[in-house]
Amino acid sequence: MGEAKKLYIKTYGCQMNVYDSERMAEALGGNGYVEVGSPEEADMILLNTCHIREKAAEKVYSELGRFKSLKADKPDLKIGVAGCVAQAEGAEIIARQPMVDLVVGPQSYHRLPEMERQAGAGKVIDTDFPEEDKFARLKGRAKAKRGPTAFLTVQEGCDKFCAFCVVPYTRGAEVSRPAARILDEARELVDRGVREITLLGQNVNAYHGAGPDGGDWSLAKLIWALDGIDGLERIRFTTSHPNDMGEDLIEAHGTCAKLMPYLHLPVQSGSDRILKRMNRRHTAESYLRLIERIRAARPDIVLSGDFIVGFPEETEEDFAATLALIEAVRYGSAFSFKYSPRPGTPAAERAQVDPAEADNRLQRLQALITRQQREVQDAMVGRTVGVLFEKPGRMPGQMVGKSDHLHSVFVSAPDLAPGDLRQVRIESSAPNSLAGVLA
Ligand code: 5AD
Ligand code: SF4
Repeated sequence: MGEAKKLYIKTYGCQMNVYDSERMAEALGGNGYVEVGSPEEADMILLNTCHIREKAAEKVYSELGRFKSLKADKPDLKIGVAGCVAQAEGAEIIARQPMVDLVVGPQSYHRLPEMERQAGAGKVIDTDFPEEDKFARLKGRAKAKRGPTAFLTVQEGCDKFCAFCVVPYTRGAEVSRPAARILDEARELVDRGVREITLLGQNVNAYHGAGPDGGDWSLAKLIWALDGIDGLERIRFTTSHPNDMGEDLIEAHGTCAKLMPYLHLPVQSGSDRILKRMNRRHTAESYLRLIERIRAARPDIVLSGDFIVGFPEETEEDFAATLALIEAVRYGSAFSFKYSPRPGTPAAERAQVDPAEADNRLQRLQALITRQQREVQDAMVGRTVGVLFEKPGRMPGQMVGKSDHLHSVFVSAPDLAPGDLRQVRIESSAPNSLAGVLA
């Protein structure tokens, strides 16, 4: 065997890309690659890209520009672009940055090892939407031990067509993986040391995969099956659409002990007029009623959301309705974005809000969210919660992990190891973390 080739992967965007990058690194391991931490030492550079907002896509081109000199020094260096920019722009990427050798869309990763072998001899592009399960075709995960938490993609694509969003175009129609494959992968992860799995999907709660018994499984049914895996202690899922929060899933939040009390449930706006223009197919009121039902099942659940400000035609009154909804919900965290027109989506054609006004609204919204986030976190002081420890903290003898409610928690306990799950009494709250003692 020759010396291992070096692979540098940079991942942008959502957690699904993080999962995909891991799988691509494993698949390229079969071609003799090992992962490295910097582009300078690499024989192959792979950018796993995000197209959700304009800034995210532009970052990719500026990053590629920086690799030009690396390629000049090392002509055999292979440069690949994967992910949603690859899907959306295809050959256009090579037209703009000719040093790119390979463009692979998110549905074609099982072809990556073959494409890597062909790259160099000429340009290789694959942005098809094949019928098969790409994860089944990607070789099994390498058997090495790994950290206590892992992502597992169970569903991809989206049929909702929110008027601002490129996902239905870049990731395609909704597809769910068969439950048996997910359960096998989960067992393997647990064998390798994983204790917490986050199920991923663009619209994860719309999961409807083939069950081992032949029937169609809901996400709740899948969660209950995962609940039966010994050694798996915690289950999370993200991202969800309010209209797909089935009764069985809400109930599971109250009855399934391994399902953690944290839910990311984007609403985007609190104005019915804007929600309608966004094609969200729910109202602010129906969202608030849904939250009430979820809180009835699990009173201490921490909620998080996504918000877009400055959506076309958003008035100050619409924005005030969003602030009012946030006040009513009391979020534990939230992601907020200034609307970014995406080519090919319906909202991109409409009258845009003045950018300075949108900036101003974003700042006001983020100030409110920051305050709420702190209040929800402060309310944990005095409570005893589960913490899954992940790594040593900065102080000697200190360990840091995530609470059931997804807060970072520091504990001084030299005997703890990554992967330990303990009850911790929370004693204090700092801007982005809690501190406590073993209970
Ligand atoms: N502009 C701004 N934010 C967007 N999002 C999706 N599309 C856009 C866009 N065009 C946000 C939504 C979504 C999150 C992943 O990104 O809030 O929930
Ligand atoms: Fe995009 Fe989510 Fe709407 Fe689907 S549900 S179109 S992924 S914002």
